[in-house]
Amino acid sequence: MSNHPRIAFVGSECYPFIKTGGLGDVMYALPRALVREGDEVRVILPLYGCMPQKYKDQLEWKGSFMMDLTQDGREFFVGIMEMSRDGVIYDFIENREFFDWGNPYTGLWEDIPKYCYFAKAALAVLNYLEWIPDVVHCHDWQAALTPVYLRTRFAGTPVGAARSVLTIHNLRFQGRCSIDHLKYWTGLPQELFDYPVFKVNDQEANMFKGGLAYADRITTVSETYAQEIQTDFYGEGLNSHLWYHREKLLGIVNGIDVEQWDSRTDPLLPAAYGRDNVTENKAKNKRELQRRLGLQEDSGKFVLGLVSRLTDQKGLDLVDAVFQQMLDENTQVVVLGTGDARYEGAFRYYESAHRGQVCACIMYDESLAHLIYAGADALMVPSLFEPCGLTQLIAMRYGTVPIVRETGGLKDTVAPYNYETKEGNGFTFDRYEAGLLLDTVQRARQVYEEDRASWDRMVQRDMDKDVSWIHSARQYQALYDSLRPNQEG
Ligand code: ADP
Ligand code: GLC
Repeated sequence: MSNHPRIAFVGSECYPFIKTGGLGDVMYALPRALVREGDEVRVILPLYGCMPQKYKDQLEWKGSFMMDLTQDGREFFVGIMEMSRDGVIYDFIENREFFDWGNPYTGLWEDIPKYCYFAKAALAVLNYLEWIPDVVHCHDWQAALTPVYLRTRFAGTPVGAARSVLTIHNLRFQGRCSIDHLKYWTGLPQELFDYPVFKVNDQEANMFKGGLAYADRITTVSETYAQEIQTDFYGEGLNSHLWYHREKLLGIVNGIDVEQWDSRTDPLLPAAYGRDNVTENKAKNKRELQRRLGLQEDSGKFVLGLVSRLTDQKGLDLVDAVFQQMLDENTQVVVLGTGDARYEGAFRYYESAHRGQVCACIMYDESLAHLIYAGADALMVPSLFEPCGLTQLIAMRYGTVPIVRETGGLKDTVAPYNYETKEGNGFTFDRYEAGLLLDTVQRARQVYEEDRASWDRMVQRDMDKDVSWIHSARQYQALYDSLRPNQEG
């Protein structure tokens, strides 16, 4: 065995091929960080119809086979298409019946068969390629069945020698359906459904629950979230299950890819900048942002950004409750996101009520996201829960001060501003209350307006903060090593 482990990542999205949120960022950045440290990494992904053609054109055909799946033994096509980028090998699983629809998710009814197939096919692909990893590192509910298949259907096969890690990026999504539906699509033996492995109650099964039970180790994306999910409030119904498995649960905070997010070289910015020219060039980026979005062009305005999925998780009911009070004549708000109609509608309304001062960009737009991170003064992340959160990390790297609620990874990555010592990285509040969010925004604006020297020093501190993957990648390596039999001790 070489000193460096072989790791197979299994997950449902990965930047730049397909991304709906932070999972896509992690599936991109962590393998790259591991490869830089000398590990061998393959990333196994579905080949979605919605993946941009320019990436499809780079794929190389590796072979195909038929795989049985369902309770009645129906067979499904598994094609393998491969690409290598910066030392990471990406194996895309092709099956048009499952993956040609959606963006990439459709709805649970179709997504459950799709990810039963994917979780099993990932292991079959590793056997087919004769590339046997030390650890299969699975991500979220879509890959949660992989550890189950590994110990059951694949136990006697070459890949059965691997160990498994299952990472929780977001416990809210679990892959719940009727026991019969799951039994049919997984084709797993009856005894797994007799025991409480998947069972939620007499009718309902839960894919994530089963995966968590079978994985050799469970990780989640911050230490605080690892604790929180063992409680009623954050546990999404799985808190007792996670508490029961707490010995194998570990929190490792995410980083960001500091090459992808580098304000000094970012080609999407009109004025790139480092810590030395942040003040003047941030002002230029702000003016460009204002110009592009039809806001009053004035670099003296306090620009508050929000880049987010527009869902309950992100604390948007708090923003909605105090939106009008948050605005004053010197403040502008820029929202970029898509999601629940309720929030999309609310932000559109605020834009129409405050033209020139508020802009609601209800869309997914990578390049506008870069401009907001660079041009805004502060970024709001008032989440109800936040396993890690990447937007506050990107913001800090771009010298934009985060305003966050102290939960999950937000709590672990943003040190609150201390008015005595003038230290800290951002502004924070604890209880989930709109009044506290309002107060925190006002406190941030006050420092910005009345104590600019301290604000500017905070901007510099944020840019200096190490938000790279290096420390966390090493923690994952230690975890992988602890799972390799002759590496222990
Ligand atoms: P989550 O995974 O819960 O959505 P994260 O903070 O971990 O939250 O990651 C969100 C990622 O998605 C970040 O890279 C952020 O910049 C990006 N993002 C979110 N919404 C949009 C959008 N509308 N347009 C562009 N990028 C977005
Ligand atoms: C999830 C979480 C987010 C986390 C991301 C990547 O989507 O909501 O907090 O940063 O996964 O781990």
